[in-house]
Amino acid sequence: DRELSAAVLAGMRNIPDFPEPGVTFKDFTPLLLDRPLRDRIVADTVRRRQGQVDVVAGIEARGFILGAMIAHELGVGFVPVRKAGKLPAAVHTQSYTLEYGEATLEIHQDAVDHRERVLVVDDVLATGGTLAATCELVQRCGASVAGIELVLEIGALGGRARLTDYDLHSLVTV
Ligand code: PRP
Ligand code: MG
Repeated sequence: DRELSAAVLAGMRNIPDFPEPGVTFKDFTPLLLDRPLRDRIVADTVRRRQGQVDVVAGIEARGFILGAMIAHELGVGFVPVRKAGKLPAAVHTQSYTLEYGEATLEIHQDAVDHRERVLVVDDVLATGGTLAATCELVQRCGASVAGIELVLEIGALGGRARLTDYDLHSLVTV
């Protein structure tokens, strides 16, 4: 949907020199305030994935926001994939390199059942480390990745090449 992509791109804010000098940060928080546009983003994903998803996994922190809304509209459960040390029960753990350092993500071992189809949701694809780690965690639970849904893909960083095993959709590529 070209029109939606254009609206999403126009609705994002460019913040120069964040989180460090020379980097321009694409801030998606204005999209959350725009109720009609936010609804269209969620509805677009729901249209694409309806009937193919048993549970949505959202990645801390910004993937929680969109992921929870999408799970609600799909009528399925929501699973948080969190940064290390935040989840209280037994977890699977996966470390990865990020554009600005290193990080570890975790999922509750019993969060998804064997053979469930999991839709992974986040805001941005940059280097792909976050999503690759998340998909790994989902599969370690014995579940499968039904797809990946993103608002923004930063093409130049090549993250998509690390995720060719998955059905990945981003609303906007820059
Ligand atoms: C950002 C963004 C993605 C990730 C993408 O999250 O929200 O989750 O980076 O980067 P990658 O493709 O290079 O892995 P960040 O880790 O900054 O944390 P936040 O969502 O909690 O702000
Ligand atoms: Mg994030």
